[in-house]
Amino acid sequence: MTENVLLFASSKGGVGKSTVALGLARALAAEGRRVLLADFDFCSPCLDLLCGVEDHVLYTVSDLAQEKCSVENALLRPCEQELYLLPAVQEDLLSANGEGRMSSEQNTLLGSAVQKAAEQMQADFVLIDTGAGVSTGLEAAAAIAHSAVIVAGHTPASIRAAGRSGQRLQTCGVTDVRLVINPFDVQGACAKKSVRHSMLEIMDGTGIPLLGVVPYDYALTLEQEGHGAAGEAAPALHNIARRLLGQTVPLFSGLPKIRKRKRTLFR
Ligand SMILES: Nc1ncnc2c1ncn2[C@@H]1O[C@H](COP(=O)(O)OP(=O)(O)O)[C@@H](O)[C@H]1O
Ligand SMILES: [Mg+2]
Repeated sequence: MTENVLLFASSKGGVGKSTVALGLARALAAEGRRVLLADFDFCSPCLDLLCGVEDHVLYTVSDLAQEKCSVENALLRPCEQELYLLPAVQEDLLSANGEGRMSSEQNTLLGSAVQKAAEQMQADFVLIDTGAGVSTGLEAAAAIAHSAVIVAGHTPASIRAAGRSGQRLQTCGVTDVRLVINPFDVQGACAKKSVRHSMLEIMDGTGIPLLGVVPYDYALTLEQEGHGAAGEAAPALHNIARRLLGQTVPLFSGLPKIRKRKRTLFR
């Protein structure tokens, strides 16, 4: 199976894990790669909604793990490119043990289901979105992931959560952990009397090496609600995808609004 298995995490909710995971999956697919996107947020799955295929979900990763369906039946293809979604099962349908966590057998089965799907579709990349908090999907994802992307924004809570998530992943054996700052408020961070955490403060606070920065993008929120197309976030996500492909891409390539404020940003 591919060595490119990445999970997306932060113990804080609403920081953009799903948005960044889907954006990167699309960007990698646009680069001609075969991408498997697995939804391991068993508490609040949303990738089917964000992909606009919620009415087509018949089977989930749990069905695949229990051999109730084939890989072809379980995967959804939301666009023309080689991007395939493996939807999540709702947590209450999983027979979680008394501590509200899945047993190691369940974790292994779910991980094996993703590996089986990735092998069968010959995926170049497997991206696994996980939920916030002490997420039941995180351990299952960590067991098969080689790398992790942690998402954090300006808020102290998200910075702390990112740092802790990074440490937790290290204990799960995922040592290649990188940071995506999202959503980044360019104007706010550059304002003379800014009270927002700067990019350097976010990097310092999390202690995680930077993979990329995605600006706040109102157009992206509209796109997720079914109207219009993404704006500034799209080139930022594309930059990150190209870095994952081993290319050297300047931090703000294709992002003129941030580029012209570069000096102020690193004050
Ligand atoms: N770069 C961004 N610009 C604007 N809104 C964003 C950005 N990233 C995420 N959001 C918004 O933040 C909210 C939470 O994002 P989501 O990806 O669901 O977070 P998580 O998966 O961490 O819970 C969504 O409404 C999404 O549209
Ligand atoms: Mg999410």
